Amino acid sequence: MADETTEEEQGKESESPGLKRAPLRGEVSRRGVLSTLALGWAAFAAASAGILGAFGRFMFPNVLFEPPQEFKAGFPQTYAVGEVDERFKAAYGCWLVREPKGFYCLSTICTHLGCTPNWLAADEKFKCPCHGSGYTKQGINIEGPAPRPLERYKITLAEDGQLLIDKNTKFQQEKGQWSLDGAYLDYV
Ligand code: FES
Repeated sequence: MADETTEEEQGKESESPGLKRAPLRGEVSRRGVLSTLALGWAAFAAASAGILGAFGRFMFPNVLFEPPQEFKAGFPQTYAVGEVDERFKAAYGCWLVREPKGFYCLSTICTHLGCTPNWLAADEKFKCPCHGSGYTKQGINIEGPAPRPLERYKITLAEDGQLLIDKNTKFQQEKGQWSLDGAYLDYV
C-alpha cells in the first residue's frame, strides 16, 4: 500500500511532543539567541567597567605623599657634640651633624645612584651598601664610584630656638656652596 502521508503531516509528526527537532540550517534556536545576548551584555559590562576604572584613575591619580620639605629638628641642646644624629634619617632623609662650633645637615642620598648610605660610627664614615661609595663625616666622597660629595640642606634657627631644616635649599660642595649662608649653622 502506497504511503499517502502528505508533507504537512510529516512536518507535524516531526514536531510531536517528546521529540526534539534539530534546528535546520539558517534557523537560530532561542537558546542560541539568549546566549549570544548574554555574551554581548557581559562584554559590554566588562568594557564599561574598564572605562570606569580608567576614569577613576584619572580622577584620583596615585599621589605620593612626601613629608614636608621644611621641618623643625628640635633644640640644639638635645644634640651631642661630635655626633652624627640619625633621628631624621628615615622620615626626612637627612643626618644632622653637631660639631663643637655648629651644625650642618647632610642629605642621605648617595651621589652615585641614589641609594641610602649607612653611618659607620666606628669607622667615622658613611658607607653606601649599593656599590661601596664612602664619604667622610663632612660628606666628602672618598671611595667608590660616587662622583661628588653628599649635598647639604639649609639649616637655621627658628624663632622658638629650634633647629629649622629647609630641604628646598641645597648646597653642593663642588660648586663652592658650602660656604654660603644656611649651609652651616654657627652655634657654640
Ligand atoms: Fe651609592 Fe652606588 S648608589 S655607591
